[in-house]
Amino acid sequence: MELETMILGPHELDKAAQLLQAGKCVAFPTETVYGLGANALDPEAVKAIFTAKGRPQDNPLIVHCYSQKQVREVVSEIPPKVQTLMNRFWPGPLTLVLPKGDLIPPVVSAGLDTVAVRIPDHPVALALLEKADIPVAAPSANVSGRPSPTRAEHVLFDLGGRIGAVVDGGETGWGVESTVLDCTTTPFRILRPGGITLEKLREVTDVEVDPGVYGPAHTKPRSPGMKYKHYAPDADVYLIVGEGTPAKIRELGEHYKRLGRRVGVMAVTEHISLYSDFTVLDMGSKLALQEISSRLYHLLREVDRTGIEVLLVEGVSEEHLGMAIMNRLRKAASNQVVQT
Ligand code: TXA
Ligand code: MG
Repeated sequence: MELETMILGPHELDKAAQLLQAGKCVAFPTETVYGLGANALDPEAVKAIFTAKGRPQDNPLIVHCYSQKQVREVVSEIPPKVQTLMNRFWPGPLTLVLPKGDLIPPVVSAGLDTVAVRIPDHPVALALLEKADIPVAAPSANVSGRPSPTRAEHVLFDLGGRIGAVVDGGETGWGVESTVLDCTTTPFRILRPGGITLEKLREVTDVEVDPGVYGPAHTKPRSPGMKYKHYAPDADVYLIVGEGTPAKIRELGEHYKRLGRRVGVMAVTEHISLYSDFTVLDMGSKLALQEISSRLYHLLREVDRTGIEVLLVEGVSEEHLGMAIMNRLRKAASNQVVQT
């Protein structure tokens, strides 16, 4: 069904809040990526999110709240260690998986007895959540399988005509989605790495990393979303890692050029000059991981816009925010990783 998608400014949050209360889907900025929100207590409203995105029904949603009081209404238990994490990292890019409260309908949690919750650290998101005064289920506001949106124009490109409104709050900050931490296991487990890093979480409590974060898991993924192809442009993407990366990228680039394919290279600023024979996309300085994460999805969308057919991407270190960046790059590359 074709709708007229309203573009609202950050000062039109009363309208956006009314739409949410009326069961409509509204996209809004957070500090990570744009989310596509709907009333988490209204199963019909939540179903419309799945339809608009083309999202598989078995992939549960994150419930966004503006206060810890509101969080207590959607979960059934907050263990002391979790309370410490909330106090330390909220508002912020940390999603906690906790035992679900009865108010949350099964469509939000895809039938699981847990629910993912977070308080986003973005003035527009917080003001909207407070005005609407309902918990808001919100996945990233992209068509399923496409890179997450970091600008309102990305949301409109993917979902224009399919959703009620988008609140344009400019570019988001982190650029990659929140860390998803399963707090129902011992020790707690990172299901998806993000802005709140393993190193930071370990300052507070014992945390392990789900093996699926590093590639296709051999066990059933615990975060249902991790099993789907994600963040992928239409181009064939290869992720190159290790000491010999620049030489390998030049070799592969020449190879695909000879085959008549349009080759692009995504590289850190320090290495741009090594790839002058190809279309180069500047990821940002290798010394500024947040610069790289904030640009990542926009660059992946640019790849399609510029008609690149084969994309060769330089890997970065897995430390700190690098774990999230590498996790998304492996997915964009459908796990086509070349170790040098
Ligand atoms: O930064 C973010 O988290 C953004 C913004 C909009 O808040 N949201 C986002 O939502 O990335 P989405 O739906 O694209 O990703 C949610 C992830 C998926 O991998 C999903 O499987 C996982 O969280 N998830 C949600 N509920 C879960 C649960 N109960 N147990 C395990 N994983 C869960
Ligand atoms: Mg998503």
